[in-house]
Amino acid sequence: MADPSGDPAPPATASPAAPEPASPDDEVNLARRRFFRQFAGELIQTAATVAGAAQALQRASAEAAGAILDPAAAALRDDPAAAGQVAVSPAPAAGGPPTGFRTPFREEGGFLLVIDQRKLPDELVEVEVRNAPEAANAIRQMVVRGAPAIGQVAAIGLALSAERATETTAIARRAILRAAAAALRAARPTAVNLGWAVDRMMARFEAVGDLPEDGIAVAAALRDEADAIVTEATTDHGRLAVFGLAALPVREFGPLRILTHCNTGPLACGQFGTALGIVQAAHHAEHEVKVWVDETRPYLQGARLTAWELEQAGVPHTLIPDVAAGSLMAQGEVDVVLVGADRVAANGDTANKVGTYPLAVLAARHGVPFFVCAPTSSIDLATPDGGAIEIEERPADEVLHIRGVRIAPAGTDVRNPAFDVTPAELITAIVTEEGVIRSPFAADLAEKVAAANVRHAAARRPSAPPAAAPSGPLEAAG
Ligand code: MRU
Repeated sequence: MADPSGDPAPPATASPAAPEPASPDDEVNLARRRFFRQFAGELIQTAATVAGAAQALQRASAEAAGAILDPAAAALRDDPAAAGQVAVSPAPAAGGPPTGFRTPFREEGGFLLVIDQRKLPDELVEVEVRNAPEAANAIRQMVVRGAPAIGQVAAIGLALSAERATETTAIARRAILRAAAAALRAARPTAVNLGWAVDRMMARFEAVGDLPEDGIAVAAALRDEADAIVTEATTDHGRLAVFGLAALPVREFGPLRILTHCNTGPLACGQFGTALGIVQAAHHAEHEVKVWVDETRPYLQGARLTAWELEQAGVPHTLIPDVAAGSLMAQGEVDVVLVGADRVAANGDTANKVGTYPLAVLAARHGVPFFVCAPTSSIDLATPDGGAIEIEERPADEVLHIRGVRIAPAGTDVRNPAFDVTPAELITAIVTEEGVIRSPFAADLAEKVAAANVRHAAARRPSAPPAAAPSGPLEAAG
C-alpha cells in the first residue's frame, strides 16, 4: 500500500543490518517499520519509567502511530459510525505496511470504544461501550479478550456506570454497581485480572461510604481507581518487557527463535503486551528475532491476532499449526517459548490458553526454556495451586466450526476447555514487572506482589517522583 500522503518515509534510525530495499515501495515499508520499531520501543521505555501517563500513551500509541503511518486511516477513524460501530482503519492488505500500534480500547466523548477482536484480521472496527453491563457483554462475547485487557475494560465500564448514575438515588446506584460487578466477574472466570479489577473498583466504592448520597464523589472515586488500574498496567507491562528482554537467551548466530501461543500483545493487554511486549522490546533493541506463532485452535488468537500484530510491528514471524511445535523443537528450531498467563496460582502453577500445557511438556522434553510472562495482577495468591483454578468451558460451536464453516458432523459431542494449567515444575521462569523469578516460585511470587503494591501505592501519592526504571538492554539500545 502506498503512502496516501505522498510523503517520503518518516525519519528512520537505520539498522546497520537492514537489507537494501529493492523498490521505492519496499523502501517506504522498511522506513515505516523502522519508525514503528523506534516508536514502540520508546513507548515501552517510557512506560517502564513514568507512571500516570496511561491516557497519553494510549492516545499516542493508537492515534499517533496510525496517523503517521497511515494518515488516510487516521482520518477514517473520525467518521461517524453506523449502528454503534466505527471503522478505525482498513485491515492491512497481506504483505502491506504496518498501520500502527493498536491498543484495544480508547475513550472518547464519554464512551469506551473497543476494537472488535472477533472481526480481526479482516475488519478493524470499534464497538461502543457505554456502561458496565455493556462492558460485561463485550467481555463475554470476546469483543475484547486477554486477561489484562478485560480487567481494564471492566474497570472503565464501572467508572462509566457511576458517571451515568450521579443523579440516581444512593440505593439505586449501589444496586446498579453491584449487579454490574457480579455480571463482570462471571463473564470470564479463569482470568484473575477481571475479578481483581472488579474487586478493586467495588472496594473503592465501598470506601466512599455504605450508601453515598453524593453521586459525583462516587463517580470521581471510581474514575480515579479505573485510571490507576490502566496506568499501572501501562507502567507494569513496560517494566515487564524490559526485564523479559534481559532474560532472553542469546543465540550467537542467526535470529533468536521464539515460539508463542495465543495472543499476548497490546490487543490482549491494553498496552505493550506481556510475552509479545518482550518480543517488541527485543525487536526495538535490534536483537534479531523470529517468532513461531501457534495458530491457537480453536479460537485462532495466534493466527488472527498475533500474526496481525507482528505484521503491524514488522517483526519476522511464521504461523504454524499448533501440532507442529513438537517437531520444530525436536529439530532444534525453537530457542525459547514465551507465553502469557490468565492466572498464576500461589505455587506458580499457571492457567493459560489451552495448548500451553502440552507446549511446556514438549519444551521440557527438548530442553527448551519455557517462560511465563505475567504482570503481578495475574498472580492470585489466594489460589494455592492449579487444581483450584476454575477453567472456563466455551461453546461447542468454536470447535465444530471455523469462521462459520462446519468441519465436523452436525451434532458431534464437543468438549471445549478454553484454558489449561501448566504445573510450576515445567516453568523455567516467570517474568513479572518486578523481575524474573525461578523455581521454587511461592516465596518470590508473594514478594513480587508485595513489591508491586508498594510501588503502585507510592506512585499514587500526590508528590510521587517518577518510578525508577528497571535497568536493562533497552536503555542501552534506545
Ligand atoms: O481466551 P483469551 O483469548 O482471552 O485467552 C487469552 C490468553 O490465554 C492469554 O495468553 C492470556 O490472557 C494472557 S494475555 C497477556
